[in-house]
Amino acid sequence: MSVIFDSNAKTFKLNTPNTSYMIYISRDNFLYHLYYGNKIPETDLRAVMRLDPDFRIGTAENGINNNLMFFPLEYPTYGIGNFLEPCLAIKDKDGNETCDLRYVSHTISEGKKRLEGLPASFAKEKSGATTLEIVCSDSDTNLTATLSYTVFENSDVIARSVRLTNNSTDQLVIERALSGSFEIPKGDYDMITLPGGWARERHIERYPVRHGQQIISSKEGKTGHAMNNFFAVCSLDTTETAGEVYGCSLVYSGNFYAGADRGESEGIRVFSGISPLGFEWKLSPDETFQTPELLTTFSSKGLGEMSRSFHDFMREHLIRSRYIKAHRPILINNWEATYFDFNAEKLLSIAACAADCGIEMLVMDDGWFGHRSSDGSSLGDWTVWEEKLGCGLKELVDRVNALGLKFGIWFEPEMISPDSDLYRAHPDWCLHVGDRPRNTGRRQLVLDFSRKDVRYEVYRRMKKILGSANIEYIKWDHNRPLSEIGSASGNINGAMSVAHRYMLGVYELQERLITDYPDLLLENCSGGGGRFDAGMLHYSPQIWTSDNCDAYDRLDIQEGTSLCYPPLVCGSHICADESHIAGRRTSMETRAAVAYAGTFGYELDITGISESEKSEIRKQVDFYKKIEPLVLFGDYYRLSPAAPDRDYYAWSFVSKDKSECLFEYVRIHSRGSRKPDYVRLQGLDPAAQYRDDTGLVLSGSLLMNHGIACASDKGDYQCFVRHFKIV
Ligand code: DGJ
Repeated sequence: MSVIFDSNAKTFKLNTPNTSYMIYISRDNFLYHLYYGNKIPETDLRAVMRLDPDFRIGTAENGINNNLMFFPLEYPTYGIGNFLEPCLAIKDKDGNETCDLRYVSHTISEGKKRLEGLPASFAKEKSGATTLEIVCSDSDTNLTATLSYTVFENSDVIARSVRLTNNSTDQLVIERALSGSFEIPKGDYDMITLPGGWARERHIERYPVRHGQQIISSKEGKTGHAMNNFFAVCSLDTTETAGEVYGCSLVYSGNFYAGADRGESEGIRVFSGISPLGFEWKLSPDETFQTPELLTTFSSKGLGEMSRSFHDFMREHLIRSRYIKAHRPILINNWEATYFDFNAEKLLSIAACAADCGIEMLVMDDGWFGHRSSDGSSLGDWTVWEEKLGCGLKELVDRVNALGLKFGIWFEPEMISPDSDLYRAHPDWCLHVGDRPRNTGRRQLVLDFSRKDVRYEVYRRMKKILGSANIEYIKWDHNRPLSEIGSASGNINGAMSVAHRYMLGVYELQERLITDYPDLLLENCSGGGGRFDAGMLHYSPQIWTSDNCDAYDRLDIQEGTSLCYPPLVCGSHICADESHIAGRRTSMETRAAVAYAGTFGYELDITGISESEKSEIRKQVDFYKKIEPLVLFGDYYRLSPAAPDRDYYAWSFVSKDKSECLFEYVRIHSRGSRKPDYVRLQGLDPAAQYRDDTGLVLSGSLLMNHGIACASDKGDYQCFVRHFKIV
């Protein structure tokens, strides 16, 4: 049984294949978090609890007093004397903030329900998942909180969320409603986060969990470049292959607030959810508020296993596109080849060269609509600029198709340029607060997607374009954070609900898009990887990882991203020999080695490269097609030491049946007379013999214990790539 209720012990136990998660109903009906870790057989932990003075002295459990100070509340609320970070804070009709949730009832059922309006994980078959719903209520305000937990039979990830319902006759104000928390055993831990910035997204940072709150958050109205909403808390000695780690990934793409709080009792609470800053939700009688979903996992076998659990879970239970397990067209995007300076003839010359090299899709990036020749105009005016292109869209697409390529197009649906017909007609359609100045980051404003009329008009315009030609792919961009987050539509749910309602509007439109066009391949993007999260992955099977395609810079970006997200969702392209962002020169071979670890493509002016480079591209395309099943379906291993002064990066993809492996190594520092780096592989069959593409045969055991010598030419940024197959 994956969810057990022990009615004697009053405990709930959620079992995944390798972990257990336990909750206890106290005699006075508080819910306590009891355990999260390796799988245990017990359902009754009362004997252990009796040894713990915190449980003995606290609350009416033993009739002594009502002191919740050090209690590991399962869904902690503000105002009742429990002082680690609360998940819930509400204001009642008199302005009081105290909320005291007590257990009322529970249900255990097969399958998993959808979350209204929000991205969330799913079970493919009802029998593959079990959901526990625990109803709690605050008797004073009549607020009900339904805590929902789903376990999946094939995964160590638990999906959880909370539904709040106002059962009173008065309005309540939700000031914060995080998605969930749990407490981990007292001890010393590290926190691992993914901070960064534009063109340097999701670099791994690891630091000790100190006393007080260690918060990661976004106030940008999107996940943001500066901090991803994934984080982990692990033992100090946890490595890639050993040690305990708890991972948390929020299925949400707006402002978030997450972290760990270590209090005076040394208890550590881990939590995540929508950021309370800039958030408030007026809940009228009978109304319900649904929090985003939080995914958690535990591994006692290191960071690698945590990542592989998230990877498998996201491809099996989160991403819905039919492309998730299908070949992704190898694309070429014209952005770095032309920026805004292109016409149909230029695009067709790129397409012709690309077709000659075996590339499968041309993506026309920013600059094809309105009168857009720079980032200063036309967002919102989604009509083809035929004078610029020199022909209509259908003619262009037909000619690209005739060359044997699919055609994809760029949109930035959530934005509006002050210099646009749309803005001139509807100056109140952007997010704004009264007459306050409107921040025009990247010379654009953000459309008020909390408004249905606004997003439906944008969608009507997009549909007209999609219906006019054979478009098989969309890159959905989002190039600036949100500011002046107010709406002219009137403040349903309060002015401070706009940021969340904006996000719900984005989700609704993407849902509509992929429902209306089930065969469309959607790639999300936000100035590179500024909205890269489990929420967006529910709609698009790939996200543009970063505007920075420099092979060296991408190593950190892709490694950090892989902590939580499967490489098959990472848009990963080969750029020009001199990276436009980093100004660094790397060989075509090394750029390819790095780009193979994702959804592969090109981001360069293919019309300007030599014949020998073109023949290299043909080989890369052939090679990627061979190894793509490993990227799509395989297990990913990070193989290099995570030290800041390391000499190399290495990783591999291993097929689930262990019969095949792609091993990749990039040396970043060439250091004189040193021996070659020996990299130990992981995840192979020790008893099997593997042959690489040069004919070398080595045992799985040798590859994993002795390692492989990564010989490469002198010089920095050299690579070593081997494709092994079982003999
Ligand atoms: C940001 C994206 O990340 C780029 O790839 C490109 O599409 C530009 N926007 C276009 O404005």
